[in-house]
Amino acid sequence: MSETHTLSLPLSAAAAGTVVELTEAEQNALLAVAEQLTPKGFADGRIDDLRWLDAARDASVQLPHRMLVALRAFRHDAGPDGVLLLRNLPVVADDPLLPTPAVRGSAERVPTIAASVVTTAMLHLGEVIAFRNEKTGALVQNVVPVPGSETSQSNAGSVLLELHIENAFHDNRPDFVGLLCVREDPTGDAKLCTSSVRRALPLLSAKARTVLSEPRFLTEPPPSFDALGSVTPAHAVLNGDPVDPNVLVDFSATHPLDDEARQAMAELRDAFMGTMSALSLRVGDLAVVDNRLAVHGRTSFTPSYDGADRWLHRVYAHLDHRRSRVDRAGNGAVLG
Ligand SMILES: [Fe+2]
Repeated sequence: MSETHTLSLPLSAAAAGTVVELTEAEQNALLAVAEQLTPKGFADGRIDDLRWLDAARDASVQLPHRMLVALRAFRHDAGPDGVLLLRNLPVVADDPLLPTPAVRGSAERVPTIAASVVTTAMLHLGEVIAFRNEKTGALVQNVVPVPGSETSQSNAGSVLLELHIENAFHDNRPDFVGLLCVREDPTGDAKLCTSSVRRALPLLSAKARTVLSEPRFLTEPPPSFDALGSVTPAHAVLNGDPVDPNVLVDFSATHPLDDEARQAMAELRDAFMGTMSALSLRVGDLAVVDNRLAVHGRTSFTPSYDGADRWLHRVYAHLDHRRSRVDRAGNGAVLG
């Protein structure tokens, strides 16, 4: 068992947060669980069919014990960095990995090993959800660079992706975001960046803390969300206990409403940048970010669109399914 707690260093190659690396035996055990959910083990299964999600929930209790322990502990408290990194997860069985898709709105529909692995893991952090207006509500979404979207501040882009809380504009945004690397960036340039408010808070002035705790900010939906015109009411960026707050900000979509708010937001961004960790995800890495405590982003990279580009699966989970019931038609997994 290799569990380490590493300090986050500015742009360090070290992983922030708790790291659990699966052994070969654990990897094989996880593969066997995932295989039950692929078409080989679960005929005609489609990921977005609730019967498949039921099967995935049942199968998830068989995950390797150390994974269960790590996920449960992280759900209880995501630690100072708000990030959990599980390594050496299987992403394929014997079949070769398909070329990286390069189309807008790409998602996994047929359960693969990788899709089954990320879904069963995320089901330990609550209920797996998606948003109707984002990739048509697919539960397992592909984060891949898309030609023509290079400058987009979304999962399809390849320029620097600003630090953000996932779906910050949404009342029922996910509590956890899981990113499973199925193909690493061949250039090595694309790095997942994370910063935690627990690390950044001590760097903020008292004035900034006060201003950030007041409803002086507006957040619009990200471009990957097809909804137009919906903006949250004015909100605070820091919420809850002033000594251990949640954070709600998207540095490309949150707008300060006055000069003091602008200054405080700039101070917060500096504090995040000063405590940021950046990690080149390897194949089989599942990074889970606590979306209440940590912002994430990505360094820029140059895609080649030749089928060998960086490819992640993204899955959301939230803790209180009843809270979002009004947004989920038919008590399904899709909000919107
Ligand atoms: Fe994101």
